[in-house]
This record gives sequence, structure tokens and C-alpha cells, in this order.
Amino acid sequence: MKKTRKHLPDEGTNRRDFLKLTATSFGAVGVCAAAWPFISSMNPAADVMAVASIEVDVSKLEPGQSITNLWRGKPVFIKRRTAEEIKEAQAVELLSLPDPQTDQERFGKNPEWLVVIGICTHLGCVPTERKNVTASEEGWLCACHGSRYDVSGRIISGPAPRNLDIPPYELLNNNTIIKIG
Ligand code: FES
Repeated sequence: MKKTRKHLPDEGTNRRDFLKLTATSFGAVGVCAAAWPFISSMNPAADVMAVASIEVDVSKLEPGQSITNLWRGKPVFIKRRTAEEIKEAQAVELLSLPDPQTDQERFGKNPEWLVVIGICTHLGCVPTERKNVTASEEGWLCACHGSRYDVSGRIISGPAPRNLDIPPYELLNNNTIIKIG
């Protein structure tokens, strides 16, 4: 007598589940494979990476002078500080500062060179340097709402909540080049 294989009620279900799972897995692999070039194209382009860091020639900058450069679309102030300006920055009473930070903490490695992002930490205006003032009044003023920064880029008064940010930077070639980024 021929034995008939009993068809268990859930066997068909299992096979269908298996086929569904296989199809889904292949579909997922297909989507991932198709998505990869797209995701990969979202990585920064080589020309964008090229400006991820800039090198600024500061060899012509005299003590007391400053320049502004663009780095990643942001203005960066570079100032070659005089001995008097450094002295002023180092003498500031920390308790008087809204965002207490010593000048040593900010520019201790090479106090002659100040490098800050020139964007007011209040609402993002670009402050202007205060010229023809005494060393104790030097620094930057944000005309938008009156925030004042000292010659270390620290907030002294006004609504800005913190000091001007310092980008990653290093001095190269006997301090004639500043690499930012
Ligand atoms: S944006 Fe500078 S004080 Fe408001």
C-alpha cells in the first residue's frame, strides 16, 4: 500500500513564510546595493574637503595688526598681539567675566597670536575690531546688540553668552603660517 505523505496544516504556511522571507532579504540587499552609491555621493566632495583646512601666511603681519580669513564659510580673526595687549589680556580679573577663561587657557601656547571665529555668540553677527582705543578697551564690538569682546576674544559685556570660539589651529614654519582646521 502506497504511503501518502500527510500534509500538515502548517507546512504550507512555513513554506510561504520561507519564500516571503527570502524575497524580502533579496529585496533588502537590492535596496542597500542601490542606496550605496547614493549614500556614498552624500560624503563631502574632494573640493569641499580641500578647504576643510586653510593655511594663512601671517609673515607680513606686524604686531597690533589683524586679518580676517574665511574658513568653512566662517570669518576667522587672526591678530598678532603686541606685548601690551597680551599683558592686558592676562591681567583681566576673571570674576568680572561672564564666561571666565584665562588668556593662558585660550592662547597660552603662543600668546602673540590670537585666532578666533569672528561670529558673535549671541545671534551670529560679525563683530568689528575696536580701533584707536586704549589697550584695555581693545577687542571687538558686535553692533547688533552691543556685545563687547576683549583682546582675548572674551565676552565682557552685552547679551552674548560666551567667548568667541577658537577654531583648531597650529602655527607652522617658524610662526609664519597659521593652519586652521
Ligand atoms: S548678535 Fe552680537 S550682540 Fe547680538
